[in-house]
Amino acid sequence: MPILRSALIALSRNYALRQFCERSKLGTRLNSRFIAGMKQDDALRVTEAVNRQGIAVTLDSLGESVTNEAEAHSAAEVYHQMLAAIHTEGLNANISVKLSQMGLNLSPALAELIARTLAEHASAVHNFVRIDMEDSSLTQSTLNIVRHIHSHGELHGSTGVVIQAYLYRSLADMEQLLKEGIRIRLCKGAYNEPPLVAFPRKTDVDANYLRLAKMLLNSGIYHAIATHDESIIAAIKEYARVNLISSAGFEFQMLYGVRRDLQRQLVREGYNVRVYVPFGTEWYPYFMRRLAERPANVLFLARNLLHS
Ligand code: FDA
Repeated sequence: MPILRSALIALSRNYALRQFCERSKLGTRLNSRFIAGMKQDDALRVTEAVNRQGIAVTLDSLGESVTNEAEAHSAAEVYHQMLAAIHTEGLNANISVKLSQMGLNLSPALAELIARTLAEHASAVHNFVRIDMEDSSLTQSTLNIVRHIHSHGELHGSTGVVIQAYLYRSLADMEQLLKEGIRIRLCKGAYNEPPLVAFPRKTDVDANYLRLAKMLLNSGIYHAIATHDESIIAAIKEYARVNLISSAGFEFQMLYGVRRDLQRQLVREGYNVRVYVPFGTEWYPYFMRRLAERPANVLFLARNLLHS
């Protein structure tokens, strides 16, 4: 299974396959399990439907690493439009942004400027920007940018970041971020990382996840526990119960199309739940990482194709 995971993650970077899939009807049919649709309206429609189930949303306008400044600005424009639409339509949603899409690989100053403008917009409409975490080559620059933005008094609290439990450095990063009062989404990590920087064994990643999650719960800051792992979720619920940590003080997060039963169950039990809803035409790398997380999804999709 780890070999299949690595192969699928490697394929997520294959340009030719990406071009083929993103342009083909078959590709669009395959992706509908994990992606809200190609257009902004699709994302808003899905957000409304998810909100009706008592579940909040974070919107991801799909796309990674842009190649010029104009592309970065137009990617940001989509997020500005989404922030405006969330506000006018009264939706329970915020946004999740990848800094590589905002030009981080071209210039950290450009990405910071764009992220800061988004944080200003979010702050003006009482909303929030989550900066997603990408591969480990971008960890330090991503954290730097979030910390700079957060340090501007008027933007305090308008931006949060993601910590990946598979990285050895995450404990130290988390301690720093907590000192500064920065909101964190904790996930396991979705990229191929070498043993030099990340725990190779899943059991170590899971143990680190639980350790870091407990730190988040103890911090008194509103954080997000992003996982579909039932045993981790059960352990966290129990830890919060025993330590009298209110369920209003944190949220569980899951991906659109993954474990909807568990999402609804947590809502019924009174927990805050938020679903990560991706939309847009550049869906291929995101989709392939979802297959890599659960290679059984490949069989699931193949069966669906045969029966459709
Ligand atoms: P794990 O992979 O151990 O899965 C636990 C169980 O969940 C599996 O047994 C399976 O049943 C189910 N499951 C998990 N993934 C599934 C899938 N795709 N399809 C069907 N079932 C599945 N990563 C990152 O590097 N940077 C980021 O910014 C983010 N952001 C983010 C936001 C949110 C809201 C979530 C939920 C996740 C992310 N991730 C992420 C992805 C994350 O790092 C991780 O790859 C996935 O969440 C899968 O890990 P689990 O914690 O679910 O555990």
